[in-house]
Amino acid sequence: MKLAETIYGRRSTRAFSHQSVTKSLLERLIDSAVQAPSARNQQPWEFVIIQNIPLLDQISESSKAHIRGTEKGLLALHPHDSLNDPDFHIFYHAPVLIVISAEQGDWAVENAALAAENLMLVAHANALGTCWIGLAQDWLGTADGRRAIGVPEGFLPVAPIIVGHPSGDVSPVPRNPARLRWIN
Ligand SMILES: Cc1cc2nc3c(=O)[nH]c(=O)nc-3n(C[C@H](O)[C@H](O)[C@H](O)COP(=O)(O)O)c2cc1C
Repeated sequence: MKLAETIYGRRSTRAFSHQSVTKSLLERLIDSAVQAPSARNQQPWEFVIIQNIPLLDQISESSKAHIRGTEKGLLALHPHDSLNDPDFHIFYHAPVLIVISAEQGDWAVENAALAAENLMLVAHANALGTCWIGLAQDWLGTADGRRAIGVPEGFLPVAPIIVGHPSGDVSPVPRNPARLRWIN
């Protein structure tokens, strides 16, 4: 797949088939992620690949409960309806969750986000669907969340990304024209 086709074709996937993702494909995604640039080339990322469905269910429920208990912006963005709906699974029943954490300090978020975008693009080029699940971020950063997935001391979970084989076509989300200024 050509690079432009990959960039323009990638779209967040929220429905997955039951087909599992092979270990070699997952390794390819991680290998693409670590090709990202990082500040001072520190490559400060850590990846956890979770395929344990009961654990994913538990993280989904804990994240929903955690957000319900906060007054933060996430609550405003996500109506109580879905957070109270026992059928709403924040990972959309994807078979895999990859959480990219980065060593805390300057540019932790930037470094992890660049790795995440590489991963999502290469996933799309390999006919996989992905979606960054911000809803999981806050809870994964709590002591319980860190313990549940074993985030190492000194690292910050930044990018929870679901991965799987899409179960249908994904509708493209239109883009606004770029706010653009030229300074000559
Ligand atoms: C930081 C971040 C957090 C996101 N959190 C969620 C989320 O919790 N749930 C979800 O369904 N999509 C989430 N998304 C996906 C966005 O909704 C999606 O990228 C956006 O609507 C644009 O659509 P596209 O990815 O298909 O181009 C998130 C994306 C980013 C970058």
